[in-house]
Amino acid sequence: MKDMYVLGIETSCDETAASVVKNGSVIVSNIVASQIQSQKRFGGVVPEIASRHHVEQITLVIEEALKVAELQPKDLDAVAVTEGPGLVGALLIGIHAAKAFAFAHQLPLVGVHHIAGHIYANQLIQPMEFPLLALIVSGGHTELVLMESHGSFRLIGETRDDAAGEAYDKVARVLGLPYPGGPHIDKLAAESETPIEFPRAWLEPDSYDFSFSGLKSAVINYKHNHEQKGESVDPAQVAAGFQASIIDVLMTKTRKAAKEFGVKQVIAAGGVAANNGLRMSLERVFQEEGIPFYVPPIALCTDNAAMIAAAGSAMFVDGIRGNLAMNGRPGMPLVSWK
Ligand code: KG4
Ligand code: ZN
Repeated sequence: MKDMYVLGIETSCDETAASVVKNGSVIVSNIVASQIQSQKRFGGVVPEIASRHHVEQITLVIEEALKVAELQPKDLDAVAVTEGPGLVGALLIGIHAAKAFAFAHQLPLVGVHHIAGHIYANQLIQPMEFPLLALIVSGGHTELVLMESHGSFRLIGETRDDAAGEAYDKVARVLGLPYPGGPHIDKLAAESETPIEFPRAWLEPDSYDFSFSGLKSAVINYKHNHEQKGESVDPAQVAAGFQASIIDVLMTKTRKAAKEFGVKQVIAAGGVAANNGLRMSLERVFQEEGIPFYVPPIALCTDNAAMIAAAGSAMFVDGIRGNLAMNGRPGMPLVSWK
């Protein structure tokens, strides 16, 4: 059978990315131009600046993805692009580029949900087996999604306030760490063996929802109370306590859901899945449970276009097609495509 090549494009936040994936699971090229260095100055992502960076980078990144793949546009079977959710101005740059490319080269266009992309990053590592439970933890999302088959998504829990990554970034800012805070807290947390005890938001006993804003406030209060008394605060102890609380809740709810739904595979996805402490806890717990657990390498956990090409390939095979009326959908819900 002829090989299938899909070009993926991702610009939903602060990475301008393009990638070519073969047969839905083999990375042929994976180019990411990060804006972290320039967004760092502002302690977060400034939407207008993100859009400008995307405009500057998008053509170069797509050209590079094809060059590394040693392919011409005519060798491609489809173009997949993140349709939402994300920053609308940022999404639009990728979508316009994808539409222009698809139109110029007469290629089918596929609009991909960013979270479906994060989940399908796992397809680049290991074939997915169903029923499957996905824990998605990123800067904008904290979700537990049950999949009965390819293209079927059932949301069983989500955050009611801050996303896990958002909590990491906000607490990092309070501790005076650079943006994005996740990796810095992760590293600091490993340096303390006496974590501060912070609360865990379990919510109702049968709920798979999450809440992290109370934890964030607890960390801020802890720091302020100590500062008012003129006492010093050990950032490593705070980071370790904060991380322990986040991991405990994520791990406990994921474990409970995996057992309740009798899944064959558990996967983690999204930027926070790059967290060392979280990866180790989940690996240990699912080894105990005897349920296969997978998490992509760090470069495929944070935003990239290979994951968009992987999800787009699965959609393309199922006959899903977008058209030139495609628009950025900042609040796009994760709906099943079959
Ligand atoms: O998936 P992603 O790259 O972008 C979104 O779709 O949001 O996730 C970015 C988030 C940021 O909040 C960042 O702080 C967090 O992932 N992150 C981490 C780690 N690496 C990145 N959080 C905890 N530990 C890490 N090692
Ligand atoms: Zn993401």
